[in-house]
Formats: sequence, C-alpha cells, structure tokens
Amino acid sequence: MFETLKGDIRAAKERDPAARSTLEILLCYSGLHAITAHRMNHWLWQRGERLMARFGSQVAKWLTGIEIHPGATIGDGFFIDHGAGTVIGETAEIGDNCTLFHGVTLGGTGKESGKRHPTLEDDVTVGAHAQILGSITIGKGSVVGAAAVVVDAVPEYCTVVGSKAFVVRQKGQRVYDFRHDRRMRAEDPNMECVRSRLDRLEDQMRGLDAHQPALLDAPVALDVEVEEQPARATDDEALVERWIVRKYR
Ligand SMILES: CC(C)(COP(=O)(O)OP(=O)(O)OC[C@H]1O[C@@H](n2cnc3c(N)ncnc32)[C@H](O)[C@@H]1OP(=O)(O)O)[C@@H](O)C(=O)NCCC(=O)NCCS
Repeated sequence: MFETLKGDIRAAKERDPAARSTLEILLCYSGLHAITAHRMNHWLWQRGERLMARFGSQVAKWLTGIEIHPGATIGDGFFIDHGAGTVIGETAEIGDNCTLFHGVTLGGTGKESGKRHPTLEDDVTVGAHAQILGSITIGKGSVVGAAAVVVDAVPEYCTVVGSKAFVVRQKGQRVYDFRHDRRMRAEDPNMECVRSRLDRLEDQMRGLDAHQPALLDAPVALDVEVEEQPARATDDEALVERWIVRKYR
C-alpha cells in the first residue's frame, strides 16, 4: 500500500510541471486524495464490504469532486490532474501509469450490462472533459484529446480527437489531414471519383445546344458510389482505416 502511494506521488511529480514537493502533492492534490481513498474502498469492495466501500467512495467524492466506483480496477502510477468532475465507472479497468484530467468520464453507454465501462491499457492519457463510453479498449500509449467523445476502440499509440473522435496519429505518424485544401489535393479515390464525374458532366453540358447556356449554372446532383476499401494486413490497420473512411464519408 505504501509503495503504491509512493508510486502515485511520483506520478504527480513527473507528470505535473507545477508540482514542487512531496508535501505539496500530499496536501494539495485532490487526484492523489481520490486515488488513495479509492485504493482503500476497492480493498473493502473485494472483501465483500460493498456498502462501506460505496459510502467511502461517496465521502471521497464530496471531498474531492472525483467519483470513482469502488469496483473499478486501477493500476500503479495513476495520476488525476485537477480532477473535479471526473467519473470512473464500476467495471472500468485502468492499466499502469495512466493520466486523467478533470471532467473525464469512463462511463457506460447505457446499452450494455456486465462489463460496460472502458479499459485503458498502460500509459494512456485522457485529456480534460473527454468522454469514453462503453466496454471499449484504449490501446497502450494512446492519448485521448481534450473534449473528445470516444465510443470505438482505439489502437495502441494513437492520438484521437474530436466528437466523435477519430485517429490523427498512430505510432508517431500522422494518419489524417484536417485541412480541406490538402485533402482535396491528396490522392483520395473518393475525391478523384467526384472530380472525374464533375469534369464529364461539364464536358457534356458544354456540348449542349448553345441556346441553353443557363444549364451550365444549374445545380448538378451527384450520385457517388464509395468503393469498398481493400482488406488490411493487421487488425490495427483495419481499425484505423475504418475510422478514416467513415470520416471521409
Ligand atoms: C490531442 C493532443 C494530445 C495533441 O496531440 P498531438 O499528437 O500533439 O496532435 P497535434 O497537436 O499535432 O494536433 C493534431 C491536430 O488535432 C487538432 N487537435 C489537437 N487537440 C485537439 C482537441 N482536443 N480537439 C480537437 N482537435 C484537436 C489540432 O488542431 C491539429 O489539427 P491541425 O492539423 O488542423 O492543426 C492535445 O491537443 C490535447 O487535447 N491534450 C489534452 C491536454 C489537456 O486536457 N489538458 C488539460 C490541462 S488543464
């Protein structure tokens, strides 16, 4: 227990540039108070003292603003920065060396029973007010951007942002370009398809009777079929591809 506490203090020291001393962390970090209370409540929960554990969790919530269900499993070196408004559900599982900011929800979608909260693998960081919902896994080393809403599994070493969130970086490599002009120029088969249909329509319209020039200005309805994407080598690549294709659509 003491070793675990030391690990949690070390995590705060390493991950918060504002942390100056162990005493300051012990006195001023509500994230540390919440995880320490949780480790005791979880111990009670595992021994069948469910009511005491739930009550202890509520007391910790009143004092820190952080609600952690005593059934949640949390690894070593856990750090909640600021913390207020953070909620961690009963069947959430959090690996070692994870960081959460304030306002984070590791919650259920309301549609599942049994294991219904997220699993964070080791070294995951979740930005302020991100909402991770359902029994999904956030892969090792991934980062969830502030205010993201995540309802699909995230592969290892990815950064996800947005509502609903999608992959922008995998294993250090950027895999999505936000900028519209770059996207138009990129070799995107869907955009290429739209462009060639447009060229053909314009050519046909130019060939029409010269007495109907107004047709060139008429709105054109495009019926573009998106081709099936080729199979990917690994599950991770397929998952990233699925996110990207959905975004383009
Ligand atoms: C996502 C994050 C980790 C940055 O990751 P990164 O891999 O360095 O990504 P980049 O900064 O290169 O950003 C990539 C793109 O995502 C966008 N982006 C970054 N964070 C975003 C967010 N939270 N929501 C939406 N878009 C975001 C950037 O604008 C950029 O878009 P662009 O290519 O059009 O410029 C960071 O922005 C973040 O949200 N951190 C959470 C920190 C936090 O909660 N702090 C609270 C302190 S109290």
